[in-house]
Amino acid sequence: MNVRALAAKAIFNVLEKGISLSVALPDQQQHLTNGKDKALLAELCYGVMRQLPQLDKCVSDCLSKPFKAKQRILHQLLLVGCYQLYFTRIPAHAAISETAEACRQMKFDGLVKVINGVLRNIQRKEAPLNTDNDTLKYNTPAWFIKRLKSAYPENWADIIEQSHQRPPMWLRNNQLSQTRDNYLSQLAEHEIEASAGDSDDAILLAAPKDVMQLPGFTEGSASVQDGAAQWAATLLAPQANEQVLDACAAPGGKTCHTIECEPTISMVAVDFDAKRLERVQQNLDRLNLKAQVIHGDAADIDSWWQGDKFDRILLDAPCSATGVIRRHPDIKWLRKNNDIEELALLQQQIIDHCWKWLKPGGTMLYATCSILPQENSQQIEQFLQRTPDATLIQIAQQSSAEDIGWQILPGQNNMDGFYYARLVKAV
Ligand SMILES: C[S@@+](CC[C@H](N)C(=O)[O-])C[C@H]1O[C@@H](n2cnc3c(N)ncnc32)[C@H](O)[C@@H]1O
Repeated sequence: MNVRALAAKAIFNVLEKGISLSVALPDQQQHLTNGKDKALLAELCYGVMRQLPQLDKCVSDCLSKPFKAKQRILHQLLLVGCYQLYFTRIPAHAAISETAEACRQMKFDGLVKVINGVLRNIQRKEAPLNTDNDTLKYNTPAWFIKRLKSAYPENWADIIEQSHQRPPMWLRNNQLSQTRDNYLSQLAEHEIEASAGDSDDAILLAAPKDVMQLPGFTEGSASVQDGAAQWAATLLAPQANEQVLDACAAPGGKTCHTIECEPTISMVAVDFDAKRLERVQQNLDRLNLKAQVIHGDAADIDSWWQGDKFDRILLDAPCSATGVIRRHPDIKWLRKNNDIEELALLQQQIIDHCWKWLKPGGTMLYATCSILPQENSQQIEQFLQRTPDATLIQIAQQSSAEDIGWQILPGQNNMDGFYYARLVKAV
């Protein structure tokens, strides 16, 4: 299969069908066997998602009329062609001929000339990409820029800049297998350059690696997890033999890390999404860890749990994921402005319900991979106002003692954007 045709299909599925790129891309990658082709397919899809408004404007300006509905995928194919011309080192003649060949493979033989013509036109003009408005200049939807400007009047542009960077690869050393220093030595022996991160198990790789090249990966010596996400287990601080609930657990990164930190706990890992829940079990199995994995609603614990209340609850709530745009640039186009208030309401329902299931004296760690105050500091501020038996415990890393929780911004210490608030229930 032609890589450009597969890229157009994946991008079409994201933009026209609302499927996330983390699903749409592997769906197309499975048609390829060669690792280099798979990497190129990923580069084309991620690249188009990052630069979408500018590419879209460039392509639309070159078309005398838009494609008919049934040919719409050719618009996405042109985005792929345009991306190659502006942002890759692929020679222009190869980029154009491969993209035209993709059009033929997609059985639009009659339109090969159009694809060729538009791309040649773009190549000939060599015009700088349009930056006439903020959406084009920052390749970011206007509603999100507005929210960022309001939340971060001084550094909103830096945040956008960071959200367009290629993210580093982080590993989590499995402290049940070896010490972090030991694993760093093993990586060095395999000539994999890496350094220790701030939290106990975090390792930052100098360059991304295929996990199969990592020493002992299949046996569970390490996992892939961003440095920000690795703070969850430390901040939750489970103690020996406690009963812990991970209320929104899938795919299970934090569930597994929490058990690695304190293997004597009884862990209950719950998620609403049965398909994603399978990944929790797979991760537990690879790491040889045990947890009770339950398909259930964190806003209705009564319907699936007959046991005691929990000593600790990790609530890694469903959120806008605006802190992880550098890893998932499709979020910019899949999220809509109205989603934020809807998500904040859902988070409120889940946090209130989970609180009822926390023992007196117990700890709840509220987390999101969002950078919007509505889902983070404002959410927790409102929770504290309506919950007299809740106290916010300061997190040492937060920038100021007055802050409500710890907001990590994308790129800060190489980490993803993330938010943590630690809450304790009165005895
Ligand atoms: C941010 S992700 C969790 C990531 C996970 N904690 C990890 O570290 O791998 C949020 C999860 O919440 C789940 N979710 C959304 N609404 C839920 C609900 N009402 N009850 C339980 N899980 C829910 C989603 O299916 C999604 O898997």
